[in-house]
Amino acid sequence: MKNTCFDIDPQESPGDLPSNPIRRRLLAAATLGAGTLALPLGALAAASGRAAGALFDFTGVPVSTADAVTVPEGFRADLLFAWGDAISEGPGAAADASDDAARQLQQAGMHHDGMHFFPFMVGGKPSSTHGLMCINHEYTDDGLLHSDGMAGWSPEKVAKSQAAHGVSVIEVRREGKDWVVVRPSGYARRITASTPCRIAGPARGNALLRTAMDPRGEVILGTLNNCAMGVTPWGTYLTCEENFNGYFRGPAAPDADQKRYGLSEKGFGFRWHEHDERFDATRHPNEPNRFGWVVEIDPWHPDRAPVKRTALGRFKHEGATVTLARDGRVVVYMGDDERFEYLYKFVSHRPWRTGMDDPGALLDDGTLFVAQFEDDGHGRWLPLRHGEMHAKGGLTATNGFADQGDVLIRCRQAADLAGATPLDRPEWIAVRPGSDEAYVTLTNNSKRGSDGAPATDAANPRRDNIFGHIVRWREGSADAAATTFDWEVFALAGDPQHPDPQRQGSIRGDAYGSPDGLWLDPRGRLWIQTDVSTSTLNKGDYARLGNNQMLVADPRSRETRRFLTGPKGCELTGITATPDGRTLFVNIQHPGETASERSDPQHPTAVSAWPANQFPAATGGRPRSATLAITRMDGKSFA
Ligand code: FEO
Ligand code: CA
Ligand code: CA
Ligand code: CA
Repeated sequence: MKNTCFDIDPQESPGDLPSNPIRRRLLAAATLGAGTLALPLGALAAASGRAAGALFDFTGVPVSTADAVTVPEGFRADLLFAWGDAISEGPGAAADASDDAARQLQQAGMHHDGMHFFPFMVGGKPSSTHGLMCINHEYTDDGLLHSDGMAGWSPEKVAKSQAAHGVSVIEVRREGKDWVVVRPSGYARRITASTPCRIAGPARGNALLRTAMDPRGEVILGTLNNCAMGVTPWGTYLTCEENFNGYFRGPAAPDADQKRYGLSEKGFGFRWHEHDERFDATRHPNEPNRFGWVVEIDPWHPDRAPVKRTALGRFKHEGATVTLARDGRVVVYMGDDERFEYLYKFVSHRPWRTGMDDPGALLDDGTLFVAQFEDDGHGRWLPLRHGEMHAKGGLTATNGFADQGDVLIRCRQAADLAGATPLDRPEWIAVRPGSDEAYVTLTNNSKRGSDGAPATDAANPRRDNIFGHIVRWREGSADAAATTFDWEVFALAGDPQHPDPQRQGSIRGDAYGSPDGLWLDPRGRLWIQTDVSTSTLNKGDYARLGNNQMLVADPRSRETRRFLTGPKGCELTGITATPDGRTLFVNIQHPGETASERSDPQHPTAVSAWPANQFPAATGGRPRSATLAITRMDGKSFA
């Protein structure tokens, strides 16, 4: 089964892949050494004048294969919120997963992913001891979710699976040295795969979004596969729908549009369609068009429905990183996480100002761009505007785009025509606060692509990109709204001990592979979280890199130090901090995952017993995704 973010087979190729300058740069770097990575951005972070290593105030931890979280000496990691924990006054988890769907609706969902801490304002200042947290629950392992796994598959099990997806909004408070979930809380709520969401933006009402249940194309039930996220300047949360295609039963012979988004007859084995017919795309062909969006949630108003912001395009959204252009226009960077997919940027037409009425509407009116990387280290943002003529064709009715709604729903096809550069699975994006400098993780790609290499590649064994890399770019005119940029490879991941020089990478310091989560803290340090597939973790090329981990990199010196190692079978994803930098929240996702991604319910702790093996107060019985609160024992700020 291919369930989640990794190792998904490439969908229908977007035709012959155009030249891929990033791949060429990687190949050159792997052959000639890391020095070749430096491009026009050589002076990018040099202005700080810091001594190398000055950003590190901890001793790195070694790689680990233990079934535990490890943090540096002088730090502590506490468990805050694990799958099954009550969001408010409701029941806690049963160790044997016997909770029904109604109970799951009052508890943390599974597979924590992107998240954010929203501080309460106290005396006009943001609190660092009291806030709301939005936490994504990306998907479920139904082998763990039900006492007997997927045996006796039923409407009740489908309802529980849907209830374990989506987002948790919880209230948290620091009491002494401990963080606790505030129970009861009037803010606490679960948003699931069944929660009504409003449709906004140019695709609202589009014929491709209309269904028997929603003949006007205005309301969608639910959000799912909520991966990474974004935060708006007006204090709302953007949750991103990633591998939505896998939840649907598609036709035996999908059409070209369905193939482009990976709809297949088998899906990823969630089996929702067996008891919820809207997930049967042979009966409801427009239902898959209603997923793959960025969804805005207002954590401060629990009565407000989430809003699917269609102007941000429909694809397998990893995250939606928000910054502001010089004139205050809202800029949202987004990756489409699949092999050979693209990097996007939305720029609002109107600027944001404090005190605006309905600032969310800024996300309904703007231009969506897709990135084209050029060999010389420059790049262009290509507009996906209805009527626009591009290298491979126009975004016009001739090519199936009757209006802007069609362009957004068939966003990948529009980007193909524009000549976007295929990438090695763009995941998280981080923007240096108040700057035009951004980073994207390109997590890995086990396939080479039809053209991804220069002529010299015949002699180069690095035909794929199994360790991934991080690209950094700076916008033209030092303005996030610019239509040109300069780019370079910040780090080529790999194992310096690897016998194959082509796989040693260019990391300065502690090694890693498959970078995924990414965050720039207010001090300007880049936090990197890894997602090595369970099928390759601690094996083969990855034999020396240990469990998934989190590292910190100095953007100027590129020195990288390992801060945290996760338990067995987990990935690290989701990171946010209190405004004072004294608490860092981090998510451990899918501890104990098996190579098949669906656990054996007879042996739920076969791979991992985390977190109960490390935190005795945790509910046991099964490995559980969880949010950690990490602090320094001396109480000082560090993030
Ligand atoms: Fe959900 Fe691409 O990570
Ligand atoms: Ca994942
Ligand atoms: Ca990933
Ligand atoms: Ca990810």
